[in-house]
Amino acid sequence: MSERPLNVGLIGGGRGAFIVHPHQRAIHFDGTRRVVAAALHQDPDVAMEEAEDWPFPIHGYRSYDEMIEAEKGKPLGERVDYVLIVTPNNVHFDPAMKCIEAGIPVFCEKPLTVTLEESDKLVAAVKEHNIPFCTAHTYLGHWSSRLSRHIVRSGLLGDVRWVDSSYLQGWLASRTEDMGVMQAEWRVDPKRAGASCAGGDIGTHALMQLRYVTGLDVTRVQAHLVTFVEGRQLDDHFTTYCELSNGGKALVRASQIAIGHKNDLCIEVNGTKATLFWRQEEPEKIVIHLPGQPDRVYWRGEVQANDGFLGDMPEDLMAEPTAPSGHPEAFHDAFARLHRCFEADVRAYQEGKPWQSDGSKYANVEDGRMGIAFVAAAVESSQKGGEWVDVP
Ligand SMILES: NC(=O)c1ccc[n+]([C@@H]2O[C@H](COP(=O)([O-])OP(=O)(O)OC[C@H]3O[C@@H](n4cnc5c(N)ncnc54)[C@H](O)[C@@H]3O)[C@@H](O)[C@H]2O)c1
Repeated sequence: MSERPLNVGLIGGGRGAFIVHPHQRAIHFDGTRRVVAAALHQDPDVAMEEAEDWPFPIHGYRSYDEMIEAEKGKPLGERVDYVLIVTPNNVHFDPAMKCIEAGIPVFCEKPLTVTLEESDKLVAAVKEHNIPFCTAHTYLGHWSSRLSRHIVRSGLLGDVRWVDSSYLQGWLASRTEDMGVMQAEWRVDPKRAGASCAGGDIGTHALMQLRYVTGLDVTRVQAHLVTFVEGRQLDDHFTTYCELSNGGKALVRASQIAIGHKNDLCIEVNGTKATLFWRQEEPEKIVIHLPGQPDRVYWRGEVQANDGFLGDMPEDLMAEPTAPSGHPEAFHDAFARLHRCFEADVRAYQEGKPWQSDGSKYANVEDGRMGIAFVAAAVESSQKGGEWVDVP
């Protein structure tokens, strides 16, 4: 018999909001999860109006406090099974902490918090309550990110010497924040965005892609944060030269003034035997460069074990539900894969079975914290003129 769908509660996502919509599609992707409740806006009246106008019936709440309080008292099956937080960065910590304390698993947008102190508190609370927690690093959900991770971590490139991980955009190349674009308004405001705009918003994705694919950590950074657009308090261009935990080196960079780049997350990993290249704007393929050989291009859905480069393929990777090759998968599929893996952990948690949140299927709370620690170190380094700073 099929299982009941999991109930999801939203925090944020009303009137003109962006990322709630890809999430909502991803939640409903498999038919095994559904949105049932929401506190959609900081203004309680707007929150209720927006819930009324939702495309299908949901239980609207006037605030997230009201939602958490009401939902935690309901029996399992009637209450929300997990909460999705899609508010600006400064409204992640408080609802996330309250959900954890109420025993509600959390799927939280990145960057995890605006301060390292808050991230540390969330890590401790997740540990204490032993509860599933996802930090929404979308791009780990591409099947090709899973394959990249397998290729690099199983040593097929040899030892990792150098990684170039970048996330380039051009949408803040002029004062977008003055054009009534709410997504730009809060991103350039240190109170709502945190200590870095480009670094926090998209540099954390570039860092997470590096960590997920290679299994390496950035141990220290030399950083230069630049504000090209006049009048901004935060960086719109973020460059870090990094030392890696295996002694290798990396560039992790992010820019929002790179006109022509849209959501251009790229990673190149140079090993002692081969190089891997992947780009999110063409997320279906991975290119492998081997010395003296033609390049190998691996397309999702067309990967065979033991082909002369790949060895045995992990069963779980080959068993991941994907569309037939040639029917393109992209952003929404990546989000759906994260929610699908999180759902499995939430169900196991509820049934008292072992569950993972180990970072292999989605970024967990420690991964979210590493993003904030990296940004904090980069901001400090930049303020000191590019001196080396350890990542705490
Ligand atoms: N994973 C990704 O790929 C990705 C992409 C875009 C944004 N994000 C992250 O998602 C978050 C939201 O970004 P966005 O671009 O969707 O922002 P947005 O401005 O489009 O939406 C934010 C929403 O939060 C609501 N909100 C604010 N305070 C609230 C409160 N106290 N209670 C309830 N609702 C409240 C706003 O009314 C709005 O509906 C940010 O942390 C951002 O970094 C992640």
